[in-house]
Amino acid sequence: MSVEAIDKKRGSGEELPPDWRTMPHGIRIGRYTDADFLKLEYEKLWSKVWQVACRVDAIPEPNDYTLYEIGDSSVIVVRENANTIRAYHNFCPHRGTALAEEQGTFPHGNIICPFHGWRWNTAGENQYVLAREEFKQGKLLASDVPLAAIHCVEYEGMVFINFAEEPQPFEHFIAPIKELMEKLIVGEMRHYWWKKIDVEANWKTAQEAFFEGYHVPATHPQLEPDGAEFIYGENIEGDFHFSHHAVAYDAFERGHGRFYAGKQTAMQGEMRMVNPVDPVDAMADRLQLLVDGMDAQVLQPDVDIVRSMKGKEIPEGSTLGAEYVKALYGDAAAKERPLGAPEPDVLEMWGGEIFMFPNICMLFHGGNMMMYRAIPHRNDPNRCTFEIFSTRTLPASAPRQRAEQIQVTDTDDPEQVYEIPRQDLGNIPRLQRGMRTGAMKQNWLASYNEKIILNMHQELDRYLVD
Ligand code: FES
Ligand SMILES: [Fe+2]
Repeated sequence: MSVEAIDKKRGSGEELPPDWRTMPHGIRIGRYTDADFLKLEYEKLWSKVWQVACRVDAIPEPNDYTLYEIGDSSVIVVRENANTIRAYHNFCPHRGTALAEEQGTFPHGNIICPFHGWRWNTAGENQYVLAREEFKQGKLLASDVPLAAIHCVEYEGMVFINFAEEPQPFEHFIAPIKELMEKLIVGEMRHYWWKKIDVEANWKTAQEAFFEGYHVPATHPQLEPDGAEFIYGENIEGDFHFSHHAVAYDAFERGHGRFYAGKQTAMQGEMRMVNPVDPVDAMADRLQLLVDGMDAQVLQPDVDIVRSMKGKEIPEGSTLGAEYVKALYGDAAAKERPLGAPEPDVLEMWGGEIFMFPNICMLFHGGNMMMYRAIPHRNDPNRCTFEIFSTRTLPASAPRQRAEQIQVTDTDDPEQVYEIPRQDLGNIPRLQRGMRTGAMKQNWLASYNEKIILNMHQELDRYLVD
């Protein structure tokens, strides 16, 4: 089916069995819990969607490789040279041995099978076959046994792959969020840390917990204490001005989306003072909660810049937020650290998120980005792996550090998972647990605060019914 025809199918999902349907106001639970639905996703979504195999900082030098594993697929992503990255199915054409494990560097660019020693270069060309004369009556050519290449595109610091033989054009896939990603200089982000967490939840359950700000007062009470008091405290009458009221949501074509702070952030000159203490302290303390709670998206140097403004006068007509932005840009310029242009389009994304279909979230502040990736389990719809990448721009002269993944062994360990994601990851398995009772038929989605979830499922349906 053509790309245009897929786009036209407005994801009603009516062709799917009733338990698997996306409805205008909610999602049927079978989409999160049925093994057959996971199978269908593998057949129809993962087999032909552009997906992030790795960030380029996992393979900074020629011959560096990393593995991307999803379902039964295992993909070697290897850097051939400064400008070329290639992706191959991870098997030996002789008898099938997986050619690589985890992450590493192919010495001298030789990809050698550990079973009988056949050899390829990083361009995927066969270089050596032991006792070649025994194969195909001595006529085995290098071109008979190349590595099995996979379509692969490098874009904004990420390597995207597509398992389809003839994938939809990458440009078409990325178009709705391309300008935003480029303005936010996603490609300039560098590795800070990267963790992988095994989660007892469907991959969609896990990622959808990061699609909205609506959960903040209940899940992260420290970030909205007055709202939490309203929810958990004695005073349950009346209404409360929750901060999610200020969050704006956009659902984009092709399943992508975003949320952002609109015009009501400190950076845009708006600062709602809950406790009218010193505004510099208030802003710094708030950002410090994010540093201590995530060590990603907002980082300690950003808070230090706020604190350095203490006692300085705010010029007439300016605001603390605007002065902070100025100070941050001044600091970055002095260090030759790249930042996106300080346009309203960029500043309003500070504290916001871009969701890239089907499974990537990117959250921004200043020159930092936190990225999430949810990968389905091979055959269990109630499990997934969830990764957190903390990245930031660095001065141009800073050495390139290779990104290596750290496996989290205990989600409850505050040393391994910081407070804010720990709170999210505390609820996510509970969501899945509730859905597995079998008594729940569908969830209910807020038409505005949860619109990115619906949009994601509608796009998923376009793939599934194709
Ligand atoms: S299986 Fe790889 S060389 Fe034999
Ligand atoms: Fe959260």
